[in-house]
This record gives sequence, C-alpha cells and structure tokens, in this order.
Amino acid sequence: MTGAQGRLVKAARRARGKAVAPFSKFKVGAALETARGKVYLGCNIENASYGLTLCAERVAIFKAVSEGERRFKRIAVMADTGRLTAPCGACRQIIWEFCGNCEVIMANLKGKTFEELKGMLPPTTDRQKIQDLIAAVNGAAGGNDRIASFRSALGKLGTTAVTMLKAAL
Ligand code: THU
Repeated sequence: MTGAQGRLVKAARRARGKAVAPFSKFKVGAALETARGKVYLGCNIENASYGLTLCAERVAIFKAVSEGERRFKRIAVMADTGRLTAPCGACRQIIWEFCGNCEVIMANLKGKTFEELKGMLPPTTDRQKIQDLIAAVNGAAGGNDRIASFRSALGKLGTTAVTMLKAAL
C-alpha cells in the first residue's frame, strides 16, 4: 500500500463516520481521488423507501462529477466486515462509466486492505460500444444484409425506445 493509497483509506474511514444507515446499520465510507489528487468523500445515505438508498461510492462520484471532475485515479471503500466489502453492481457500472478501469481499494476498520488494480470491472455497458454500433449502422452502405436488417429493426423501434437509447449515450 503506497502513501497515497493509505491516505485515501483513512479518508474513507472518516467518510464512513457520516453514514446515514438507520435501517441496515451497515455504514460505508468512500473516498475518491481525482487525477490531480483532490479527494471527494461519500457515505451511504439510506431512505425509508429502501430503494432510494445511495451507496457511499456513488455519493462520492456524483459529488465529484457535479463539481466538474472527470478524471479519477482510485476509489477506497471502507466498511466494518471481515470479508472486505466490494462495490455493488450498480456502483461498478457508475465507477466504470466515470472512472474507467480504475484502482479500487477495499478496507475494513481493522486495517485489512485489498487493492484491485484494474480488472474488477469487466465489460459492463460501454457507451463507446453503443456509439460504435450506431455509427456502423448509420454509415453502412445498403449492400450488407445484416446491417440492412438491423437498420430496419432499428427503424421499427418505438420512439420511446429510440429516445431512451439516445439518452443513454
Ligand atoms: N452499501 C454501500 O454504501 N456500499 C457498498 O459497497 C455496499 C453497500 C450500503 C448500501 C446500504 O445502505 C447498506 O450498505 C447495506 O447494503
């Protein structure tokens, strides 16, 4: 563990102290380091509806992104579990989209840490892939049957689906 990683883990521990987890009692802290070394903290914030709960990782990422940050080095996640807590699927998707294949450090209060240096987030929905696909469809000459049929399938999609697809890009 490098000095920078250790500092981030400590920051995640601090963030955990702010967790709002009256329902699960499971407190989580996250610390996100930007490419330029600034650190944003996040904690889980639960809601009586349960489903509106936000994980610590997403709070940290959304705070940073809403401040205009776009390039990140690593994220540390602190929970009080013997088996270290890894980001949930929803957070992995968000980490993938905003932080790319970045370094994820998991830690617990007893000082156990584990670094997942890239590769924790294997292919999830990748906006570049979707854009490539659409560019291929739009740019294709009529000669290619598969692309032509895909194009006609796209044409049959309802406007809601097309709007949703565009919104996702
Ligand atoms: N939680 C996080 O904040 N991050 C994780 O990586 C795992 C789960 C939160 C969500 C919820 O408030 C509580 O932990 C129990 O799942």
